[in-house]
Amino acid sequence: MAARLESTRADIHAHRILILDFGAQYTQLIARRVREIGVYCEILPWDADEESVRRFGARGIILSGGPESVTDESPPRAPAVVFALGIPVLGICYGMQTMATQLGGRVAPSAHREFGYAKVQRTAPSRLLDGITDGGAGDGAPLDVWMSHGDRVESLPPGFVAIAATANAPLAAMANEEARFYGVQFHPEVTHTRSGAVILERFVRVICGCDALWDAGNIVADAVARVRGQVGGDSVLLALSGGVDSSVVAALLHRAIGPQLVCVFVDHGLLRQGEGDQVMETFARHLGIRVIRVDAADRFFAALGDEEDPERKRKIIGRMFIEVFEDESKKLQGVKWLAQGTIYPDVIESAGARTGKAHVIKSHHNVGGLPERMHLRLLEPLRELFKDEVRRIGLELGLPREMVFRHPFPGPGLGVRILGRVSREAAELLRRADAIFIEELRAHDLYDHVSQAMAIFLPVRSVAVMGDGRRYDWVIALRAVETIDFMTAHWSRLPYDFLDLVARRIVNEVKGVSRVVYDVSGKPPATIEWE
Ligand code: XMP
Repeated sequence: MAARLESTRADIHAHRILILDFGAQYTQLIARRVREIGVYCEILPWDADEESVRRFGARGIILSGGPESVTDESPPRAPAVVFALGIPVLGICYGMQTMATQLGGRVAPSAHREFGYAKVQRTAPSRLLDGITDGGAGDGAPLDVWMSHGDRVESLPPGFVAIAATANAPLAAMANEEARFYGVQFHPEVTHTRSGAVILERFVRVICGCDALWDAGNIVADAVARVRGQVGGDSVLLALSGGVDSSVVAALLHRAIGPQLVCVFVDHGLLRQGEGDQVMETFARHLGIRVIRVDAADRFFAALGDEEDPERKRKIIGRMFIEVFEDESKKLQGVKWLAQGTIYPDVIESAGARTGKAHVIKSHHNVGGLPERMHLRLLEPLRELFKDEVRRIGLELGLPREMVFRHPFPGPGLGVRILGRVSREAAELLRRADAIFIEELRAHDLYDHVSQAMAIFLPVRSVAVMGDGRRYDWVIALRAVETIDFMTAHWSRLPYDFLDLVARRIVNEVKGVSRVVYDVSGKPPATIEWE
């Protein structure tokens, strides 16, 4: 068994693609597409040193798009080693332009900026584009592609031929078949380019010769072998929150090291309805994982007191979490590692933050700084996985679908959904309203259509006439959003009849609520959480 795992590990990493990032918003999308094809890949910044590029041992390299212009004074350039390794290279948009200039061609600003759909016509045969068709279109018919650029290649480097053109860019794709260098001005990684995935697959599988080994079963086998190698016989501690990432870490570590894993689940009293019991049911009872449940609601509510300021509330919850978690883990003997559900986008973002390339910095981690304080080594078995891969291996490890595809829930829990002072009563009322909303979304098959849905407690009393009297009761807001990356979001156009049903149920069943409103704000500017 161990031998089989070893060979699986060697193989899935042997067939790997390197993506050099020139700062395009689509770079992560390229990586996800390559992984979907079944091939492992990583992203390095365009200015990675030659040794890192060489050491990575890729079977092929993709140069991403980017916001700069190669006609600027000192534009970002791919390390020269990229073109000296003897492996295939695909330049996308800026990546094509820098390939062209670095290899002796010329790029100029285009009179027409191209942004949006375009039709690209094949002008010469190539291994990259031959035989690719959009749906029912005949062989050789134009392909629908997505363009987003200002510059264009004006003259090709020696050894290259033009293989496709658009109305505005006669050199929309180029190839040097002997060197196996290709450039496309359009973006194959976005779904608007109808055959984009097929083009990337052609490059990665056929031209680079990578096998499709990166599937859920192999990812699990590989991670299990790695964890075993890393921790040996040591004990590992995990802060289990019930969210997707920490749940998958728990299931994975349990598979890898069984009883050496101890989970601490802190119930801060700000969880959703039934969540604590559900976590215990799934992990402790069903999977047989050792989970210590700490009922710390009293400590959290006491610490929050009358605090109304959102940032200070977050800080209190974060600090209390660390305190409670630390207290609990001090009772455990012989723990050497702290496991964390860091995933690949977090790694890329924090690497970007260090080099000043990322625009967004996420600091949502509940256990930040803990490993150093507790003198524990950090174990991050999901570090190289995207969210969709985390979900796939969660299913592979036997976690329930409902848990794996659950909407995200913030670490500070209902603490950011109760505006103003956080009281037990507000938490109780909100939990019940939220449960009704979620239950109806599931019952109407809408849950998977929205990316995140929630109820929010507003510290506002509003009048209602009930029976003979006037009452001044609380207002609940509902929010449901649709988003790909949670950076921007649209409000969900839920059917009126559905909203009507949910509002009625909440007012009728949750005593103390007189009014329900629906949030129709987009992000930006309105964030998803109300805080
Ligand atoms: P916002 O409110 O910034 O939220 O639009 C974007 C996404 O992040 C989630 N979120 C958090 N997740 N800890 C988390 O683990 C947090 O402190 C936190 N704050 C916001 C939010 O639910 C949404 O999915």
